[in-house]
Amino acid sequence: MKNPYLPLPMKLVKNFTETEDKLIHTFTLQFLSEEDEKSFPYMPGQFAELCVFGKGEAPFGIASSPTEPGFLKFSVAKVGVVSTALHLMEEGSMVGVRGPLGNYYPVEDFKGKNVVIIGGGFAFTTLRSLATYMLHPDRRGDYGDITVIYGARNPGLLLYKEELAAWEQSPDINLITTIDRAVDGWNGRVGFIPAVTEEVAPSSENTYAIICGPPVMIKFTMPVLEKLGFPVERIIMSLENRMKCGIGMCGRCNVGGKYVCKDGPVFTRAQLNELPNEY
Ligand SMILES: Cc1cc2nc3c(=O)[nH]c(=O)nc-3n(C[C@H](O)[C@H](O)[C@H](O)COP(=O)(O)OP(=O)(O)OC[C@H]3O[C@@H](n4cnc5c(N)ncnc54)[C@H](O)[C@@H]3O)c2cc1C
Ligand code: FES
Repeated sequence: MKNPYLPLPMKLVKNFTETEDKLIHTFTLQFLSEEDEKSFPYMPGQFAELCVFGKGEAPFGIASSPTEPGFLKFSVAKVGVVSTALHLMEEGSMVGVRGPLGNYYPVEDFKGKNVVIIGGGFAFTTLRSLATYMLHPDRRGDYGDITVIYGARNPGLLLYKEELAAWEQSPDINLITTIDRAVDGWNGRVGFIPAVTEEVAPSSENTYAIICGPPVMIKFTMPVLEKLGFPVERIIMSLENRMKCGIGMCGRCNVGGKYVCKDGPVFTRAQLNELPNEY
């Protein structure tokens, strides 16, 4: 039986400074063999524990998509011990990866439906995975309209600029980017995500909304989605509670009777309404 605490060694092939403030880096990790890659079958929305040997491990959402073979991507904010150690790592170093962990976005339920993805700041990681997955030519036909509303404080804090530029040109996706305050050279929208969502007013008919971002953004966007008519069963969120084991053993992440690491991190708003407000 596979030991769930044993990390898979992976090679750091790219340590990329993603944002202007240099606080978010995106790491591309390469599998060492085809066998290792087969032992890590994941879906958009899942996360993994990244282990820096001698420092510790911490959970991070998987930003790559299973439709991108050979590697995994993680975008990490520098906040503490493990994330700082990762930021300082040289390309070519080895990183341990434990996973894939948790559940994933219900992509089967999205089939035949429109999908509205709403993301704020650096919480866009697993949303990138989801959009990339649905946009793959083998899968794009499974879904209706795909709309992405993505905002950050300023243009320098938007993640994945190359992809955003490609999505802007693509007929397969409707991308709306916004920043909090106007700056020179920015031609996109200006405004907070709740207000922009209200302006764009995506139809709730036959549509799922997936929302990830800072708590304040979620708090103010939720009433907008409800006003637009999204039922709580079709609003999907991903939680980032503090975790330790990541596999439902230690009880660190529980909310009511649920373990966020195992029963989540992806929940519908309807499921969350049944839980104590501790997330
Ligand atoms: C499912 C999941 C997915 C995540 N995905 C990402 C991601 O894609 N990118 C990313 O940058 N981060 C993500 N996080 C958050 C990340 O795991 C934490 O920031 C982690 O603590 C970083 O480890 P560290 O050792 O650098 O920080 P630590 O040294 O452990 O802590 C640094 C600071 O962060 C605080 N902290 C730790 N965990 C949390 C938490 N869950 N919520 C609020 N504050 C916390 C600590 O109290 C401390 O102040 C995710 C968390 C979860 C549970
Ligand atoms: S992190 Fe241990 S039970 Fe969830």
